[in-house]
Amino acid sequence: MNKHFKQILFTRKQIEEKILELANWVDETYKDSNDLILIGLLKGSVPFMAQLMKDVKTNHEMDFLTVSSYEGGAGSNGSPKIIMDLANNIEGKDILIIEDIVDTGRTLLAIKNLFLSRKPNSIRILTLLDKKEGRVVKMEVDKYGFSIPNVFVAGFGLDVNGKLRNLPYIGEFDTKYIDEY
Ligand code: IMP
Ligand code: MG
Repeated sequence: MNKHFKQILFTRKQIEEKILELANWVDETYKDSNDLILIGLLKGSVPFMAQLMKDVKTNHEMDFLTVSSYEGGAGSNGSPKIIMDLANNIEGKDILIIEDIVDTGRTLLAIKNLFLSRKPNSIRILTLLDKKEGRVVKMEVDKYGFSIPNVFVAGFGLDVNGKLRNLPYIGEFDTKYIDEY
């Protein structure tokens, strides 16, 4: 384990087993769909998306969106900024948003509203981690992998100042070491 972590929350094996379960949920949920697009929010969703899509059997396309993080006290009007938009037109499509973690819910609420304005056939949210205590807006996800308490986590896509996304496990990061990254 990286020495700046307090504990490992989910091992590589636990994550991979969970993602297989989530892929089965995707197949069941979209069994009647011919127009599924998995939309990953960059950059945190990359390891999750890569693992998930290999386990999903339903035909689908993939696309990505980059939004600015909410850091710097987004405040009540803190809507995340789009850095890179989708390549696909999503009108009439079944959209499944893939996210690493939902905390305050601000990012996904804004993204969901933006996507709804583009008139997809359906829109759902799948997040690997759900930090329910962090919520400041009403934002229900359709499916999550693991529910976690209000602690700062890193690994498997989740970053500390852009680093540590490569770790194959997810752990509780000791924030006193944050300046080392
Ligand atoms: P929110 O739901 O709008 O607060 O934002 C969620 C985003 O904040 C996620 O996509 C992550 O990029 C980031 N985030 C929230 N909690 C953590 C954490 O514990 N570790 C690393 N990134 C986090
Ligand atoms: Mg993110």
